[in-house]
Amino acid sequence: MTVTEVLTEDRIVDGLQPIRAHVLAVQLFHLFDSGLYDTLQRRGAATAAELASAHALHLERLTAFLSYLRNEGILVEADRGFALTPKAIEVHRLRGWYTMFIGGYARTFLALAGAMQAGAAAAGRDGGKVGVGANEISMTDTIPLACRLGVQYGARRILDLGCGSGLYLIELCKALPDAQAWGVEPSRGGYEAAQRLVADRGLASRIRLSCTSAQAFVRSDVDYDADFAVVAFVLQEILGQDGEAAVMSFLDATFDRFPNLRLLALEVDYQVNNPRIMRHGLGAAFYNPYYLLHPFTDQRLESSSYWKALFVRCGLYTISTETIDPLTDSTGLVVGFVLTRKAPL
Ligand SMILES: C[S@@+](CC[C@H](N)C(=O)[O-])C[C@H]1O[C@@H](n2cnc3c(N)ncnc32)[C@H](O)[C@@H]1O
Repeated sequence: MTVTEVLTEDRIVDGLQPIRAHVLAVQLFHLFDSGLYDTLQRRGAATAAELASAHALHLERLTAFLSYLRNEGILVEADRGFALTPKAIEVHRLRGWYTMFIGGYARTFLALAGAMQAGAAAAGRDGGKVGVGANEISMTDTIPLACRLGVQYGARRILDLGCGSGLYLIELCKALPDAQAWGVEPSRGGYEAAQRLVADRGLASRIRLSCTSAQAFVRSDVDYDADFAVVAFVLQEILGQDGEAAVMSFLDATFDRFPNLRLLALEVDYQVNNPRIMRHGLGAAFYNPYYLLHPFTDQRLESSSYWKALFVRCGLYTISTETIDPLTDSTGLVVGFVLTRKAPL
């Protein structure tokens, strides 16, 4: 007779931590995405009844949600109602990661087993939330890089292919007051978010937007003479969706259409089997789940050396290779290639 080992409470608590973290991540996303965070920030504190009335919510369910967040130390409850804790304010600074990983990809993670079956289609995602979240993350690293390069090159006609919610365009226009910009975004949710943001910032006269793919845009007959373009984390989409020949033909068409272009191509170096990177704090917290989702969503990450060789095969020159501020990411995995068709002088 075998004696069943007792599953003691401490082991149960330990084993439940991933579930606790999963539920908390999803509820933080809802707190931010529902607008409740913004209302609490604006008002300082509010009762469940006040929040239910302001957001047209079901009082009993909202109360359960707020109580849960209080018990996790995200909210505090006092006489005037619920208020944000310092922990909530700190985690809100990472809102973009929640928008992308939870709003954009939570459904993907839940669909992995089905999508792993031989012959299965890719798992779904919310493309709009992916674009919006990626842009919010980019505010911390690649948008400052794009602005620095745009200013250095004196850009006047900017193009962002796969622009998400348009934050690159907005920040580039702020940094370059004489510049015009054009954003291209195929997901309807991302495109509409960009339209709203551009209008809110009063930049509709300087920034135009198209809801289409990068490939279709560069082959269209739009009357626009771009001199500086960004294609940030989008070559990996074209590679996954349509293959290497499609990426090469897209780059050819881009430089045929805009021969004097400087193109900033940003990609994440694919280092999933590099233990030094994968044991790094950001390697485990961000890149491991980030690497996981790509093959499930028809995206293909590649190494920096793969991209460099591909650009050479396209007859392009990499005039500069850029990395982002190591204060925010010291892995060196985010790489920006500045490409031209003309040989550097
Ligand atoms: C990871 S997000 C990056 C967004 C933004 N470029 C950034 O760096 O924050 C990838 C974006 O590419 C868009 N996308 C996907 N396929 C595309 C294509 N064929 N042409 C242009 N954009 C595409 C997605 O909708 C999404 O907004």
